[in-house]
Amino acid sequence: MRLSRLLSADALARVKCRRTDRHNRGSAAPSVLLAVLLAVLVAVTVYILAAHIYAPPPPITSVGLQIDRQYNLTLYITGAAFILAQLGLGFAILRFRDRGQRAQFTRGSTVAEVLWASITIIAFVGLGIAGSKAWGEMRFTPASRDSVQIEVTTTQFVYTFRYPGADGKFGRLDPSLVNAPAGNPLGLDPNDAASRDDVVVPILTVPIDRPVELLLRSQDVIHNFFVRELRLQQDAVPGMVIPIHFTADRIGRYEIVCTQLCGLGHYKMHSFMDVVSEPEYEQFLKKQAALQ
Ligand code: CUA
Repeated sequence: MRLSRLLSADALARVKCRRTDRHNRGSAAPSVLLAVLLAVLVAVTVYILAAHIYAPPPPITSVGLQIDRQYNLTLYITGAAFILAQLGLGFAILRFRDRGQRAQFTRGSTVAEVLWASITIIAFVGLGIAGSKAWGEMRFTPASRDSVQIEVTTTQFVYTFRYPGADGKFGRLDPSLVNAPAGNPLGLDPNDAASRDDVVVPILTVPIDRPVELLLRSQDVIHNFFVRELRLQQDAVPGMVIPIHFTADRIGRYEIVCTQLCGLGHYKMHSFMDVVSEPEYEQFLKKQAALQ
């Protein structure tokens, strides 16, 4: 029986086509190279994250622990998707490389499209819901009433911290009185009685295990308050007072850095946060009050 009777004309054309094109099929090298490159990319990325090469220091708040848990969960889910997608891409590049075959048009699969769109939606919305507790505790819940209130003022390129002093009240500030060289970087109004006992310092000191509320301000451009160990990062915006709060549970010195590109000196804009015991904190306040 002749071959042409067994196969439809179309299929026959394809077989012929395959035969003739076999001679001018492309080189396999680019697709093999790209697939290997993708596999290496996946291996290196997984290694960097799994070996904790750029891991942050451990958190010093309970919310920080929750945030780490949420971060890891997100990393596992998106990591699995990343590995599958990249290796799948490598496989497709190898499998469908130029073998001299004729290119075929495909309309794709509606079922597959709906399926992975749904999986993506469920994953993202699910992660959002799972993380909302930690986020809400930090951002949507006001600081407790017994919080230690400290004002943080950012300016190019320093942090200045103000404690309300014995009266528990922040004194009046007058922008026209701002004069850092003369020792009044915040523009404290000396005529306001509440101003007189305010403590102004360049390093933040907070007591351990007590809720602390920071009031973020900026005198010029947008800066940022970021302490890795607090897992807390917030912009300071001119014209606004932005409250953030936390309770640190480990004594130590932690670096505060500005993460907004705020000018030429941005790279060196930093300060420190000392978490100290309650007696040490009282001593600090007393000492500073005597110095002001
Ligand atoms: Cu301030 Cu960067």
